[in-house]
Amino acid sequence: MIQKKMAYIITYGCQMNKYDSDVISRILKTNGYNLTDDEECASFILINTCSIRKHAEDKVLSKLGELVCRKKNDKDLRIVVCGCMAQRLGNKLVHRFPEIDFVLGTSMIAELPNILNENEESSLSTTFIKGKKVYTEESSCIYPVTSIHEKGLKSFVAVILGCDNYCSYCIVPYVRGKPRSREKIEIIREIELLVKAGRKEITLLGQNILAYGRDINESFDGLLRDIHSIDGLMRIRFLTSHPRDITKDLIELFPELPKICEHFHLPVQSGSDHVLRLMGRGYTVEHYKQIIKEIRKKYPCPSITTDLIAGFPGETENDFNDTIELIKEIGFDTAFCFKYSPREGTPACKFQDQLPEEEKNRRLKELLDVQKAISLQINQAMVGTIQEVLLDEKNPKKAAPLAEAVSLTWAAPSVDESSLLGRTRGDKVVIVPAKNHRVGDIGIVRVVEANNWSLRGVFVNE
Ligand code: 5AD
Ligand code: SF4
Repeated sequence: MIQKKMAYIITYGCQMNKYDSDVISRILKTNGYNLTDDEECASFILINTCSIRKHAEDKVLSKLGELVCRKKNDKDLRIVVCGCMAQRLGNKLVHRFPEIDFVLGTSMIAELPNILNENEESSLSTTFIKGKKVYTEESSCIYPVTSIHEKGLKSFVAVILGCDNYCSYCIVPYVRGKPRSREKIEIIREIELLVKAGRKEITLLGQNILAYGRDINESFDGLLRDIHSIDGLMRIRFLTSHPRDITKDLIELFPELPKICEHFHLPVQSGSDHVLRLMGRGYTVEHYKQIIKEIRKKYPCPSITTDLIAGFPGETENDFNDTIELIKEIGFDTAFCFKYSPREGTPACKFQDQLPEEEKNRRLKELLDVQKAISLQINQAMVGTIQEVLLDEKNPKKAAPLAEAVSLTWAAPSVDESSLLGRTRGDKVVIVPAKNHRVGDIGIVRVVEANNWSLRGVFVNE
């Protein structure tokens, strides 16, 4: 019997990378590989990398250093690098780490089967495919639709790749290329396969998802309508919406399509018009507030989340205070806060008035502290409300007694069979006693307690 090759995938970065890794794992399985959770057992290790901030790249470089050491004693180990760093650095990565077997750019995933199969006859020799190691050209074929092997209730599905907004701080347009929408028919086929394989919730992905369809004469609204009509699919989410592109029509579409969860992830980045201009975001604070007003007019309790950057070059103390004021005024459910990280090749990297590291750290900490208190307040206001919860998994950690929920100190990881974890439509984690319910059910739950990152609930009518 032929022994299958064992592959291990390490994923850094955003949901798009997680989706890419899902697709890669499907391709590997279809091409004779078994996926393992144990890195030590793997003879094929693929690192899916992220370039968004320096910290993300540093983590990859340190992991690569570790793998290269292992390869010195294990010549059969194959190391593959893909994702944004692969695209950005290409040959430079191979020069620094000649032990890398090949580098696959962000548009080349569909080429993976060809690369693997061409390699078959020389699979254990020293070089891949006649010495070629770096594949970073732009390919028009974005993603192959493959059969779904893995189990699960939720999946990401990429609908548009790339971005041409060129926010002054962001590396994405350079590493992911211009926006390219996937054909609607392909997206629908993939979601139908996912639903057949048990998925109840799909999160549609795009760096700038509201640009979907502009390049192929389709519309995002039309895509949502078609996905909504897929039988068996229960929830739809989408990420990331640029505040400049969100329209009244889209906000009004939600009630018509109840599978779309009322969760809006709208990165504001800063609460100062001065900084937004420097960032090249294309909207003002006033415009942003207007959108939130429209959303709240339409829905009583939407979940609104955002991204914020602390310490952008030229951000004054006043600008920063404006951001603090904005997050207090809007009351975001969650804010993903980042310290500004200069990315080579982006305009902001060359801006005057770069802030010292300590100042960026201080502002980041203040943002995190303020947001933590806001999240707690919002979650506590949910106590007593009724929520629809999709039960995702058995509680992987030991549940604390209800009364201690605010100061949770979890015991060592173990599965607590008596409670389940689920998510509300607003994507909040809820812990509920399992009772007669099972993973995959949708339950109606009354929230009884809250902390800043999760809720506790009980099923209604039990
Ligand atoms: N430094 C810090 N944060 C960044 N982001 C993007 N580029 C940078 C950068 N150079 C953040 C933005 C974006 C999120 C995905 O990452 O907030 O919305
Ligand atoms: Fe980056 Fe701006 Fe595009 Fe988002 S919209 S991916 S922040 S360039």
